[in-house]
Amino acid sequence: MRVLVLLGAPGAGKGTQAHVLARHFGLPRVATGDLFRAAARDGTPLGLAARGYMERGELVPDEITVGMLLERLDAPDAERGAILDGFPRTRAQAEALDRALADRGTAVDAALLVDVPTGELLRRLTGRWLCSSAGHTYHDTAYPPRVAGICDIDGSALIQRDDDRPEIVRARLEQQLGALADVVDHYRTAGILQAVDGRRPIAAVTNDLLDALEPIPYWRTSP
Ligand code: AP5
Repeated sequence: MRVLVLLGAPGAGKGTQAHVLARHFGLPRVATGDLFRAAARDGTPLGLAARGYMERGELVPDEITVGMLLERLDAPDAERGAILDGFPRTRAQAEALDRALADRGTAVDAALLVDVPTGELLRRLTGRWLCSSAGHTYHDTAYPPRVAGICDIDGSALIQRDDDRPEIVRARLEQQLGALADVVDHYRTAGILQAVDGRRPIAAVTNDLLDALEPIPYWRTSP
């Protein structure tokens, strides 16, 4: 099992890039935010527990998040590995992931940080639209769909997230950037962190991520 971790502040472009990398490597994209939103829509106890934290822009507690993520990694489609989008978000989550992978005889072998200055994040999140079936991302001005309100890839309707309202985006940035710095530090200490400039166009960021993975045999794209 090979696990690639995509790190970044809210709105840095993790989801956008995780969709591309998942298609590129033929691995599932596992996004804890999507798992929580699906659970909240289904009205499960886990979803109801997570909803309040998400509405306040806070991180969901580790004891809820880690179990959910590890259960998802046990699903058959993740047998070969996964692209993690939005996990780990705290040092405790990173350490729990290390332990769980060590039990499976493996380890995170790449942690990629999509680095974007805070000022740009507010603009990105408040202009974001997502497709309702698979979560493909668009932006009002930077990356509009070909037909307004419709996903280019699968034709489903575009929607906006409740937590992309400006006041909640500000709370997310205030609440979560400190924990991100801890996770970045965790992977830097492990010697597997690589950062790319997330201000570049989407395709350029993808190329930079793939270039960063080239030295790692499993993730190498060129022959
Ligand atoms: P989650 O769903 O993970 O949200 P997030 O981390 O806040 O990240 P986003 O999905 O908002 O942004 P993104 O980086 O994926 O950016 P995107 O690609 O969409 O989490 C939601 C909530 O769930 C959290 O607040 C927390 O409460 C909870 N949660 C989730 N995981 C948790 C965990 N592990 N522990 C505890 N709690 C957890 O791009 C954004 C916009 O920018 C789009 O419009 C896109 O088109 C545009 N864009 C992308 N790339 C570029 C580019 N290169 N140039 C210009 N525009 C771009």
